[in-house]
Amino acid sequence: MSLLVPSPSPLMAKPSIARLKPHLPFLTVVFCAFAFLALFYTERITFFSSTSIFKPKSCPRKSTPSKTREKGVEEERSRDPLTDDRFEFDPEECSVVKGKWVFNRSMKPLYTDQSCPYLDRQVSCVKNGRVDSDYRHWEWQPDDCTLPRFNAEIALKKLRGKRLMFVGDSLQRGQWQSFVCMVEWMIPEDKKSLKRGRFLSVFTAKEYKATIEFYWAPFLVHSNSDNPIIGDPKQRILRVDSVANHSKHWTNVDILVFNTYVWWMSGVKIKSLWGSFENGEEGYEEFDTPIAYTMGLKTWANWVDSNVNPNMTRVFFTTMSPTHTRSMDWGRVNGSKCFNETKPIRNRKFWGSGSDKGMMSVVSKIVHKMKVPVTFINITQLSDYRIDAHSSVFTETGGKLLTAEQKADPLHHADCIHWCLPGVPDTWNQILFAHL
Ligand SMILES: *[C@@H]1O[C@H](CO)[C@@H](O)[C@H](O)[C@H]1NC(C)=O
Ligand SMILES: *[C@@H]1O[C@H](CO)[C@@H](O)[C@H](O)[C@H]1NC(C)=O
Ligand SMILES: *[C@@H]1O[C@H](CO)[C@@H](O)[C@H](O)[C@H]1NC(C)=O
Ligand SMILES: *[C@@H]1O[C@H](CO)[C@@H](O)[C@H](O)[C@H]1NC(C)=O
Ligand SMILES: *[C@@H]1O[C@H](CO)[C@@H](O)[C@H](O)[C@H]1NC(C)=O
Ligand SMILES: *[C@@H]1O[C@H](CO)[C@@H](O)[C@H](O)[C@H]1NC(C)=O
Repeated sequence: MSLLVPSPSPLMAKPSIARLKPHLPFLTVVFCAFAFLALFYTERITFFSSTSIFKPKSCPRKSTPSKTREKGVEEERSRDPLTDDRFEFDPEECSVVKGKWVFNRSMKPLYTDQSCPYLDRQVSCVKNGRVDSDYRHWEWQPDDCTLPRFNAEIALKKLRGKRLMFVGDSLQRGQWQSFVCMVEWMIPEDKKSLKRGRFLSVFTAKEYKATIEFYWAPFLVHSNSDNPIIGDPKQRILRVDSVANHSKHWTNVDILVFNTYVWWMSGVKIKSLWGSFENGEEGYEEFDTPIAYTMGLKTWANWVDSNVNPNMTRVFFTTMSPTHTRSMDWGRVNGSKCFNETKPIRNRKFWGSGSDKGMMSVVSKIVHKMKVPVTFINITQLSDYRIDAHSSVFTETGGKLLTAEQKADPLHHADCIHWCLPGVPDTWNQILFAHL
């Protein structure tokens, strides 16, 4: 039974699945545990390595992959303007949730992990050795309208004199870095800066008097694991009724973009405490994840409703980012999580086990009762198709690239939670951009 317990050290995470003949729920928990360990580990590492972001990189440079490697992907038929009845994007009218990924070889991301100096090593897949490149050339095409391309100049103009802040976990940090990288190339060297902190990191575009910020709060509410992070989910205690120490950093922001999901999904009950951590950590109660999530989100919603003036501040919420730790979900019997995947899923009905519909409905119910309007950036379905776009083994642990040995063991070491950049979070920001 101890296999069910995510252990504090990823090095201890070696339950041999092959030896067991587990039934499905058991497997799911084990996979969740793996997923979570991967998450935790990369979190901690990024914390550790982010302070050294400006140090010269000593990583070996991989040349960009040659076109000859990229055969075999069907080019989509180009849009026929005469028969295309999709209308221009109007956030009131068009749902971005339903659509498909269209391959377009000529579409180039606005940045690379070599050109943008602000990317964490964790998500710099090409630098970390990923050679297949198709994953960078898919565009999300909603069924009923066209989603405008991200335009850096327009984005910066819209942010003039404003603060845009992403708040949440490492997936939200990915979205923040993506946004920064999509605009920073427009700005000369001496007119921009990035200051990193334990909780708050701020990119400044001086001439625009604009900032693009990230605030670390993986549960949004307080926990004893915000900083430093506690590896063992069983030792984490949340203050589901309290957000004030985080939220005081969210005031006077013009555009707030929140998320929180994957940290709640460790598979263990959530320990919740009322009052302060100072009286020791006793007296907590344990709740099933959806219950605790409901309480935590209500605390967040109350803060928004009582502190945000909707005439001054726009509020967005990025829905859950899917994880791809069970290749069985998409019918790959002997696969290793998302490892080796090079194409999105085509089945439009696909919805993997890494996206919990119950958790989605918690968010949805709470937000619909709020006074302050919150706009969803509903990325779950479109991202769920993208089994090909995770960092996989092209990531780091302990500030070091995975070793050849670790790469050869993707079942334990592939990161199928975070996304390569450039990549899928660019599309999340394309949706955000369309709403600005
Ligand atoms: C593919 O991308 C190129 C370059 O951005 C663009 O000009 C072209 O219209 C796109 N093709 C389709 C079919 O969307
Ligand atoms: C909030 O911050 C104050 C002062 O920094 C500290 O004493 C208190 O314990 C914090 N509360 C929580 C819930 O972290
Ligand atoms: C927002 O603006 C509207 C219309 O100008 C006004 O009626 C309302 O009181 C304002 N709300 C707040 C919270 O300032
Ligand atoms: C999966 O692996 C097992 C054992 O190696 C093998 O017997 C089976 O045929 C494989 N299944 C598929 C679909 O490749
Ligand atoms: C990964 O893909 C390569 C090329 O398609 C293949 O040779 C290799 O066996 C695959 N590895 C695994 C573990 O599936
Ligand atoms: C997001 O979209 C999915 C469909 O892809 C839908 O089931 C879900 O309710 C939406 N979430 C929210 C919060 O609106």
